[in-house]
Amino acid sequence: MNATSTENRAEVCASGNLRGREVRLKSRPANELRPEHLEIVEVDVMPPAPGEFLVRNSWMSVDPAVRIRMGEGSTGYLAPFELGEPLLGWAVGQVVASSAEGFRPGDHVLHQLGWREYASLVPDGGGTQPPVLIEVDARTPERAYMGPLGWVGLTSYVGLLDVAELRSGDIVFVSAAAGAVGSLVVQIAKLRGHRVIGSAGSAEKVAFVTDRLGADAAFCYRDRPVGESLARVAPDGIDVYFDNVGGAHLEAALDVLRPRGRVALCGAISTYDTSGVASGPSNLFSAVAKGLTLRGFMARMYADRMTQFRADMRAWLQDGRIFYPEEVFEGIENAPRALIDLLAGATMGKVIVRFEGGAPHG
Ligand SMILES: NC(=O)c1ccc[n+]([C@@H]2O[C@H](COP(=O)([O-])OP(=O)(O)OC[C@H]3O[C@@H](n4cnc5c(N)ncnc54)[C@H](OP(=O)(O)O)[C@@H]3O)[C@@H](O)[C@H]2O)c1
Repeated sequence: MNATSTENRAEVCASGNLRGREVRLKSRPANELRPEHLEIVEVDVMPPAPGEFLVRNSWMSVDPAVRIRMGEGSTGYLAPFELGEPLLGWAVGQVVASSAEGFRPGDHVLHQLGWREYASLVPDGGGTQPPVLIEVDARTPERAYMGPLGWVGLTSYVGLLDVAELRSGDIVFVSAAAGAVGSLVVQIAKLRGHRVIGSAGSAEKVAFVTDRLGADAAFCYRDRPVGESLARVAPDGIDVYFDNVGGAHLEAALDVLRPRGRVALCGAISTYDTSGVASGPSNLFSAVAKGLTLRGFMARMYADRMTQFRADMRAWLQDGRIFYPEEVFEGIENAPRALIDLLAGATMGKVIVRFEGGAPHG
């Protein structure tokens, strides 16, 4: 958006005639998420009150964590969403009006009030992570902060380097390897010189993981039991398992992890779209016998690594050493479909939604 249109938005906003849409949770899914669990509602957009600023969102990140928060009870992960309230998630956009210190019209902002076209924000985040100004230029467009330069990128970077404590010679196994986090983990491990194995849910994704991302081997977990496939492609075992999936994948990895191996527990997407309590791995005792480390994490616990991570990732992107696949859905009206498709495994790479006004992609 250029300066003139930002000013026009500010004028419309000040006149009280601005409307915007948001995605709300209408009912709680018991199992898989369906369109009727969500609704898109048009609301008035108010000019910022003192201390607030208004952002017109241009790109939104679609993350599996949103599904976790649709359940009734707390998982201890992030607080559940309220029925009738808009969803929350990472977004980027431009300030169109401001009564807050440090945020001026035209500034680009990364914040957590996605799933809506306009976000009314306060500098301390008001219960979400504080919004931050981001540098946007031709090499780093806004949407890069939804993927490689944002929290997804930090998750892959710290999960592999800090949580799993990647060491020289480690053999690395990554599940959901064609996804947002997984595709970065595969490439970071490869550029550090490791043997990398990936799993994914289709032959097309498996080919993508080996041919495009550079993994040494990959398998489709739907073809046969995960343990069988993993044992076949990792005859010498593995040292690191980057777990995006949980369930049968974790159990299979525990079987082939070598002594002193490490697991970064990043997510358990195989359990998100189901009700009830997921059972734990039946072979957990092998962690005792082999001296394994299983360490869970949330990227925000490693926020102090953001500066180093961004410097490394920018360099890798500029050198072409990291390739970043994206799947773009157009308009907020397609945001529910984007999440449903992501959970069903129908997408590849980072899923993002471009709102009206977001820079064209290509
Ligand atoms: N700890 C953190 O701070 C943090 C931050 C971000 C994300 N995460 C976690 O990281 C994981 C990946 O997130 P992402 O954003 O990168 O998503 P993503 O991998 O881009 O998308 C999710 C993928 O999961 C796979 N999947 C779905 N159901 C599955 C099942 N039952 N078994 C195996 N695979 C299944 C699908 O791919 P297939 O076709 O291959 O099945 C789908 O494409 C999630 O568990 C997420 O919660 C954690």
